[in-house]
Amino acid sequence: MPRFHILPFGCQMNVADADWLAQALLAQGWSMGTEDDADLLVVMTCSVREKPEQKVYSLLGRIKDAVQSRPGAFVAVGGCVAQQIGEALWQRFPFVRLVFGTDGVAMVPQAVARLHMEPELRISLLDFLDYYPERDQVAGAKRAQAFVNIMQGCDNFCAYCIVPFTRGRQKSRAADAIMAECTGLVQQGVREITLLGQNVNSYGQDQHGDGTSFADLLARVAALPGLDRLHFTTSHPKDIAPEVITAFGALPALSPRLHLPVQSGADTILQAMGRRYSRAQYLDIVAGLREHCPQIALTSDIIVGFPGETDADFAATLSLLHEVRFVSSFSFKYSDRPGVRAERLPFKVPEEEKAERLRIFQEAQNIITAADLSALLGSEAEVLLEGQSKKQEHDTIFWTGR
Ligand code: 5AD
Ligand code: SF4
Repeated sequence: MPRFHILPFGCQMNVADADWLAQALLAQGWSMGTEDDADLLVVMTCSVREKPEQKVYSLLGRIKDAVQSRPGAFVAVGGCVAQQIGEALWQRFPFVRLVFGTDGVAMVPQAVARLHMEPELRISLLDFLDYYPERDQVAGAKRAQAFVNIMQGCDNFCAYCIVPFTRGRQKSRAADAIMAECTGLVQQGVREITLLGQNVNSYGQDQHGDGTSFADLLARVAALPGLDRLHFTTSHPKDIAPEVITAFGALPALSPRLHLPVQSGADTILQAMGRRYSRAQYLDIVAGLREHCPQIALTSDIIVGFPGETDADFAATLSLLHEVRFVSSFSFKYSDRPGVRAERLPFKVPEEEKAERLRIFQEAQNIITAADLSALLGSEAEVLLEGQSKKQEHDTIFWTGR
């Protein structure tokens, strides 16, 4: 029985794709191996920040000898870096015999079956399709929580972001297909579902929409008997509908937490980023959410050092943090991505300045996080145990959950 091993990097879409792929390969008769004994290594790559191509090259360099010493073993590279560099990978790394992009994932199980039989063959699945490619439904392992894709791609073209180039235009998945998958998961015992997409708030608003809005979809999924918790990510503030804000007060299954990336607290920078909302509009959304769901836990993404960001702009981001008090946030130094609009903007912020702003922001966030968590000491909360953590030290067993 051939063995596979998957190495996922980057966002939750990659993790969800890796998860589906693993189940599909198991259903096809492959078994799970390790990095050291697998006949097929799948690398799911990410190109959203820093030097991702270098990361992939060094990973492939590291595993090269091991893969080449195992007869018949080969590597598949998927995700955003594969979409960008594509078949050029073949020149440098002949043991890479499959490259696939987001729209190619559904066809990977068939492709690897062929590659396994035909050692001379190479396959490229990099084309963007103009529809949402449905995948075979596979029985998942028994678990409490699952991800469900509701769309692919993004149409926003924020000035710093490479996603619309690597993942293509927005394509909503049909609501009935989403419902069928969610229903199946709940029947298998899943109790928490996370709906996934680059910008879930604009679900249905592309040519593939079937008239179902994101708020409608939330209500339909939340009503599934047996589903305890519903969560979704990622949201773009400009697209969050009033019905989604009120849903936090109306749908008992909807988790009281929302990841709502703000990126910056300064209007000039938001405009330069092409985010299409102002600081005041963002704060209005937050006020609306808290009105309908006072206990809501908000998290965010922040970029410091976007081209042209002044000390005053950065101070505005810090003041927004203090005003909103995110429970936690992901914060990043701006980095040029090839081909995006911001790459050509003047007034790049020096590296040391970006590092200093990041440090200041993260220190402020850590103080807020610690204070908010301390305030919960002694309170009782319902948690969903997901399973035993891989991290195990001494005699303690760690459980992961929320
Ligand atoms: N530089 C820094 N951060 C970036 N992000 C996306 N592109 C860049 C970039 N070029 C961040 C944004 C986004 C998160 C997923 O990654 O904050 O929300
Ligand atoms: Fe990138 Fe903006 Fe689309 Fe998010 S909304 S994936 S930041 S272009």
